[in-house]
Amino acid sequence: MPHDGPFFAAKDIHAYYGESYIVQGVSFDIRHGEILALLGRNGAGKTSTLRTIARVDNPALQAGEIWLDGQPIHKMKSFEAARAGIQLVPEDRRIIQGLTVEENLTIAQVAPGHGWELERIYSHFPRLAERRRQEGVTLSGGEQQMLAIARALARNLKLLLLDEPYEGLAPVIVEEIERILNEIKALGITTIIVEQNAVAALRLADRAVILDTGEVAFTGLAKDVLADEALRREYLAI
Ligand SMILES: Nc1ncnc2c1ncn2[C@@H]1O[C@H](COP(=O)(O)OP(=O)(O)O)[C@@H](O)[C@H]1O
Ligand SMILES: [Mg+2]
Repeated sequence: MPHDGPFFAAKDIHAYYGESYIVQGVSFDIRHGEILALLGRNGAGKTSTLRTIARVDNPALQAGEIWLDGQPIHKMKSFEAARAGIQLVPEDRRIIQGLTVEENLTIAQVAPGHGWELERIYSHFPRLAERRRQEGVTLSGGEQQMLAIARALARNLKLLLLDEPYEGLAPVIVEEIERILNEIKALGITTIIVEQNAVAALRLADRAVILDTGEVAFTGLAKDVLADEALRREYLAI
């Protein structure tokens, strides 16, 4: 469907866990194929913002609009948002126990709205190709993260939401995941990355949004955040 405006837009979104007002009027845009780093201190509201965008039940979206490629995500439930192309990779990765790597991927392909074929996925994830018959939960942390990203590609993926993908991973594995994220970016995937490792996220991202107590404190180029020592110290502690 042709439409004006950015590929993705959060417009003044407000979300609550019960009575707790957490996402307090957040707005930002993302262009098609861009990587946005969503940063901020612990408790700033990063996970809550991703969950709001994915339309999971908690926190509940109370006001504002979310648009993806002309589709009104704010009017959808989580399964509809997933069909529309929003894929959240949560911090705990949710690899399904008892299933091999390949079964984790084929189950994802069953969801309506078709994603990548297995061979295409394996061509970008050689480690997963080697381990396709291994049970998913027995993979290393880095490999499980790769599987979680691969699983998003097996579905209809227009906006990839990554919550702390580098947590607990060695620098060499972080670099391998970075390479994969750059590859899929080149193929037109749009991504929001939340990371405590702000330097790594900013190295990858085109633009950055910094949250502070549920509000946007900064929007701009990732390289400008890296260059601004005061901003980094105030909101990122780096
Ligand atoms: N399920 C929940 N119920 C109530 N408050 C929550 C819940 N999850 C997170 N919060 C609160 O929301 C705020 C933002 O949390 P979160 O989005 O997890 O921050 P971040 O991901 O930036 O560390 C914190 O004050 C946190 O305590
Ligand atoms: Mg979080």
